[in-house]
Amino acid sequence: MGTVLAPAPPHSDLAPIPGNPGLPIVGYTARYMRDPVAMWRERYERYGPVSWFGGFGTRFVSLLGPDACGVVLSNRDRAFANGDSWRYLIGPFFDRGLMLLDFDEHMAHRRIMQQAFTSQRLARYAEGLNLAIEEGLADWRPQQGFRVYPATKTLTLDLATSIFMGGAEGTTRTQLDRVNKAFIDCVQAGTAIVRLPMPGGRWWRGLRGRAALETFLRQYLPARRAGDGDDLFSALCQAESDDGERFSDDDVINHMIFLLMAAHDTSTITISTMMSYLGQHPEWQQQCRDESLALDAYPTYDQLGQLESLDLVMKEAMRLVTPLPTMARNAVKDTEVLGYFVPKGSFVVATPIFTHHMPEYWPEPERFDPGRFASDRREDKVHRYAWQPFGGGVHKCLGMHFSAVEIKLVMHHLLRRFTWGVPPDYRAPMDYTSLPFPKDGHPVELHAR
Ligand code: HEM
Repeated sequence: MGTVLAPAPPHSDLAPIPGNPGLPIVGYTARYMRDPVAMWRERYERYGPVSWFGGFGTRFVSLLGPDACGVVLSNRDRAFANGDSWRYLIGPFFDRGLMLLDFDEHMAHRRIMQQAFTSQRLARYAEGLNLAIEEGLADWRPQQGFRVYPATKTLTLDLATSIFMGGAEGTTRTQLDRVNKAFIDCVQAGTAIVRLPMPGGRWWRGLRGRAALETFLRQYLPARRAGDGDDLFSALCQAESDDGERFSDDDVINHMIFLLMAAHDTSTITISTMMSYLGQHPEWQQQCRDESLALDAYPTYDQLGQLESLDLVMKEAMRLVTPLPTMARNAVKDTEVLGYFVPKGSFVVATPIFTHHMPEYWPEPERFDPGRFASDRREDKVHRYAWQPFGGGVHKCLGMHFSAVEIKLVMHHLLRRFTWGVPPDYRAPMDYTSLPFPKDGHPVELHAR
């Protein structure tokens, strides 16, 4: 069973968590970054669904498989919180973002923020997105070896600037590129092994990035408070819960920085993965294109439901390359998961990426097969927590519907403008240093239609 993390209390039926720390300090960090699914598989076979391991400078209890993940996501006896564990990973960079708040305070903020994601708001974001996407795609030049990931990253940042911020009046391209760099520094700082602000180091760059983002957003705050814009920034400034509660200026800035981060890399990797797989599967690409061509050039929010094949492809892309591979929690009291004793203060990680690749739930898990989500198969329904790219419970992604609108609209415009191909034997070299990204940028052969 490896080394015992904490013995179960005397006279309890609970078992101690098995596991091992790996190398001193670094633990399993390098193995995780190389191939998290293979690492989790090895541990699952050796220790089962609940085990502890060392990595990222501390110890975590890993929860593998939908049963174990379900316990912390549903969090029935309120034994798990988000704040300390997420703060450990991304804290100083995304401090007081919604995902890092807990219990009553979290619910109070979530209630206000929900007002920025109503169907009416989504319909208005969709209108703005159509125009901004067309503008952004005008820069995409057909060529062999077109690198989809960096191009999509630039596009989603531009979309965030217009849809989240209502434009960034007076900001130049170079300044926007610096903002993009600040995001990347913040996101990557989370998995730094040296977690101290040593000049030039990853943690230090993350702190600088956070300061740059605050300055950037604060300059637009007065105008967004005063106006009645349709952008997310204005929505957060105006949002009011049923009891009339509103966000303070600091709240708005903290939430904006978190939202920009939450929306940016997750949507980017999903679009990029969809393009890469569709390049390898021309039959699915054409099926999606046919549905897009049957729709208006600028579809409304309600019309997006007609892009049925694209919906299946999106779900399959999120299964294969899970944008948020793990979710962090900390035990706020002694508790248990599947009969194992979890002492108060433990850091815990739920691992949807592992569940999404379990042959126990998904036939041929490495195969791109969007039809598995179709109504006649619904392989995702085999277990309540089999497909969880957006998490579950009270912290379930608040931007889930927004992200579907953004991803589908980008794909819709791409499918109408371009065709593309990827060799059938291509395998993306993925990097899991922070959120997943393809080291080669997901090259495709891009043609204008
Ligand atoms: C493919 C796209 C996305 C994926 C896969 C994704 C995934 C997730 C996951 C797994 C969580 C839960 C984290 C946890 O429980 O610890 C989460 C939370 C969150 N996401 Fe997303 N996300 C996506 C896009 C977005 C977008 C576009 C937005 C905003 C516009 C957004 C806003 C949020 C917020 C605010 C939370 C925190 C919710 C809370 O704690 O109550 N996400 N997301």
